[in-house]
Amino acid sequence: MKGIILAGGKGSRLYPMTKAVSKPLIPIYDKPMVYYPLAVLLRAGIREIMLITAPADVEAYKRALGDGSQFGASITYGVQYVARGIADAFLIAEDFIAGERCCLILGDNLFHGSQLKSLLKVACERSEGATVFGYPVKDPTAYGVVEFDDDGKVLSIEEKPKAPKSKYAVPGLYFYDGDAVALAKTLKPSARGELEITSLNEKYLKRGKLHVELMERGMAWLDTGTPEGILNAAQFVEAVQTRQGLYIACPEEIAWLQGFINDEQLRAIGNELKMTEYGQYLLSLLEK
Ligand code: G1P
Repeated sequence: MKGIILAGGKGSRLYPMTKAVSKPLIPIYDKPMVYYPLAVLLRAGIREIMLITAPADVEAYKRALGDGSQFGASITYGVQYVARGIADAFLIAEDFIAGERCCLILGDNLFHGSQLKSLLKVACERSEGATVFGYPVKDPTAYGVVEFDDDGKVLSIEEKPKAPKSKYAVPGLYFYDGDAVALAKTLKPSARGELEITSLNEKYLKRGKLHVELMERGMAWLDTGTPEGILNAAQFVEAVQTRQGLYIACPEEIAWLQGFINDEQLRAIGNELKMTEYGQYLLSLLEK
């Protein structure tokens, strides 16, 4: 399975921060925002990753993530010249996806919780169709909203509806079978001029192949697209990490736990960063 991180985003609600730095490179507490979606892909066992971003930001991402080898992964870079919407990622990444199944995650979405592992497993193991997630929120109007019946069958999916049919927002984490690129090519831009990911999901729904998995109570999905969102996410990460002494979204740790990098590789990275708490944390993993 291939993985795509869409690290574009006009980030207008974060202006003027985004004048200086691409949104997913803004720190959330102690690490760049993009580490959080990267950690999700690694946790799903996905090691072939394309990061798609605006031309001006490619070099900054290369500095932050390199070729991915320190995470036991391969990271290549795709360029989105015009912010044409989330589903545009499939047109940019056509050669990279090469007809395989694919997971797409947005560069500003943070997930944390014990249910994550099993949710990723279910989605990864599904060989046909698309999987989206449903997350209850107080005000779903800013999101894609999914409606489903008692058996979990999807009835509708709508982008930013004024009158939402359910309280379940669709987070920026999607799994697709090998048809995603072909279907994305048939999409027309929406009223806001974008190739909507919700329109792609509707195509799967029409074929009877859209699945939804519910994120339960206790799962955190945080949106870091506003200044308050960044502050809330940073406070959340700080609180959990300080209390438990366990890091949220440490890609090196996940890669090591997954067996993508060995003890020697983890030690080398830890030693290089040993002047930082982050480096000390990596080294401490080897002592347990
Ligand atoms: C996008 C999607 C929306 C989804 C959201 C998740 O919204 O269009 O369906 O629920 O991401 O973060 P946007 O960031 O474009 O407002």
